Amino acid sequence: MPRLGVAYYPEQWPRDRWAVDATLMAEAGLSVVRMAEFSWSRLEPSPGELDFGWLDEAIELMAKNGLDVILGTPTAAPPAWLIEQHPEILPMRADGRVHPFGNRRHYCPNNPDYQQATREIVAALGQRYRSDERVIGWQIDNELGGRCFCEVCRAAFQEWLNDRYGSLQALNESWGTAFWSQTYSSWSQIPLPEGGPVPLPDGFLRASPNPSLALDFRRFVSDSYLRYLQLQLDALRARVEPCQPITTNLMGFRFPEIDYHALAESLDAVSWDNYPLLGRDGRWSSPALSADAMRGLKDAPVWVLEQQVGPLGWEVVRSPRRGQMRLCTYQAIAHGAELIVYFRWRTARYGTEQNWHGVLASDGWPGRRYRELAELGRELEGLSDALDGSAPTAEVAVLHDYDSRFALQVQPTNPALAYEDTVQRHYEALRRLGLGVDVIAPVHALSPYRLVVAPSLPVLDPALAESLRAYAKAGGCLVLGPRAGVRDRCNVVPERALPAWLDELAGVEVTDFASLLDEREVRFVGVDGLPAGTFRGWVEELQLSGARALALYAEGDFAETTAIASHAVGKGRVVYLGGAAELETLLGIYGVLAPEAGLSLRDLPEGVEAVPLEGPRLFLLNHADEERVVALDGPRRDLVSGTTAAGSVRLAPFAVALLEPVPAAVESG
Ligand code: GLA
Ligand code: ZN
Repeated sequence: MPRLGVAYYPEQWPRDRWAVDATLMAEAGLSVVRMAEFSWSRLEPSPGELDFGWLDEAIELMAKNGLDVILGTPTAAPPAWLIEQHPEILPMRADGRVHPFGNRRHYCPNNPDYQQATREIVAALGQRYRSDERVIGWQIDNELGGRCFCEVCRAAFQEWLNDRYGSLQALNESWGTAFWSQTYSSWSQIPLPEGGPVPLPDGFLRASPNPSLALDFRRFVSDSYLRYLQLQLDALRARVEPCQPITTNLMGFRFPEIDYHALAESLDAVSWDNYPLLGRDGRWSSPALSADAMRGLKDAPVWVLEQQVGPLGWEVVRSPRRGQMRLCTYQAIAHGAELIVYFRWRTARYGTEQNWHGVLASDGWPGRRYRELAELGRELEGLSDALDGSAPTAEVAVLHDYDSRFALQVQPTNPALAYEDTVQRHYEALRRLGLGVDVIAPVHALSPYRLVVAPSLPVLDPALAESLRAYAKAGGCLVLGPRAGVRDRCNVVPERALPAWLDELAGVEVTDFASLLDEREVRFVGVDGLPAGTFRGWVEELQLSGARALALYAEGDFAETTAIASHAVGKGRVVYLGGAAELETLLGIYGVLAPEAGLSLRDLPEGVEAVPLEGPRLFLLNHADEERVVALDGPRRDLVSGTTAAGSVRLAPFAVALLEPVPAAVESG
């Protein structure tokens, strides 16, 4: 059964309150508490003067109440004295202004003084709690990220480029520095890109850097955090026992700055922070996509180290509806969380996060949220057998590629191609059809999936194209979105027909495109059973070279030509979408392609999410604030309510059901 816990900041509360908190946590059925992140100025009040006494006491109190501890390293908030000693630790913004002390994440990951200070504090913590049985894991830093443009980063970038290209000649050739006389004759000449792109009213971008440099800069920033993380991992691993797994809390799918696939390789476990109601769009598919993208980093259960428990916000506050805390917890569990740590225990009385509500209100009184949490803990306890054998399953994979994502940050091209929204639309369409979906890196093994979707893959190379070909040839159905293969790994336009390296595989050539900045719709009509639909903002002219048309444009400059193409390849097929498809359109497209790939769909009412699990079980989550009725294809037992349903199951607003087939004997008896 998934364990529940809370983030607790003993340093923010009077010592004589800690015991009350620990008792209340235990009484609510919590068994994990995360502490110490952000506590550097308490752990080391002045240079070299370490004080672990308070943390020892807090850990001891927690342990007495049966709570295991996850310790955070405090490096997301370097203390004022350290900044006073080494002001150049502060990161520089793209505009050259220094990010001041007074918030958090005020450090440059490449700064050598900061790296040294980090090694020391992390080593001291590791040494202190290395074999402490009450400590069951470590969280490094907090939500790594932020781009720094300081001189240290610039020199580090030049060195990074030297490692990557080996010679200036190779770099000049790869980047095409003949353009605008950008040829470099010394590494030290290479600049950082400006922060950009900054859209101007006329649609042009100010200060657009060389796209190859800009892509490499993004990789470099990402690598800078990987290295900074590694430094902490080394300091901990040299000391702590392997039974204390080490992680860092990631920020889900939407965070665009770090290649989480690369980062996750060095972690013992993947963890992330889940604020389902924070997203601007409020769609259930946002946290679902994040959860699947995080699970896909290691193909393993994840920890949610921060889970929303109440109203949230800094300046502006958003409240969940009654029942949503429980629903969102179930959603995280359905998507593979084995530990859920709520953020935070008690609402802060002071500091930036007074509006970020905890399990307890700021007065410390155990109120409604506390009671709901305790009740949820008891409910989960009752489901523990079922949940233990119920990992999410998937026969569909959505490819998530950081190079492509970074390249689109450099050249967004058209808002209709926005990386995050594009991936989310495809993902949501597949989930709305009731399919199990994994979100994985393109280098992940593809053979387990009947359907593989690459919604946005502008950056490509022959090796990746080859693995996609092998997948289709062996019987898979591969769906490619528009703008596939328009850049190589250096962000240079390939010197061949588009989609580069995939043209033969897809049996099409892209001969023209229309970028419709007025977001104009272009309708298409289906061929061979594909329903009509619309693309919006971006359409491509396709010339068939082996593929057949699955849809034809009904209007626009490309009217009557192919809008969607399907190419039989070996035992499988490749489908190329010639435009940016809307959600409804994708529902229509996958509604045909998925069954053709041997998948069965579910008829789900709007707002109901279905997550197929091993077992075979099925989670149904009603995100709507109205009752929903879901049709069933046979009798099912709902393990949450303990009832059995035949033709359909009713879900109250924000309700959850965990269904399993009723064994035949019971059914007939
Ligand atoms: C993030 C951080 C937390 C806290 C919460 C809520 O996810 O990791 O420290 O700031 O948001 O604001
Ligand atoms: Zn820097």
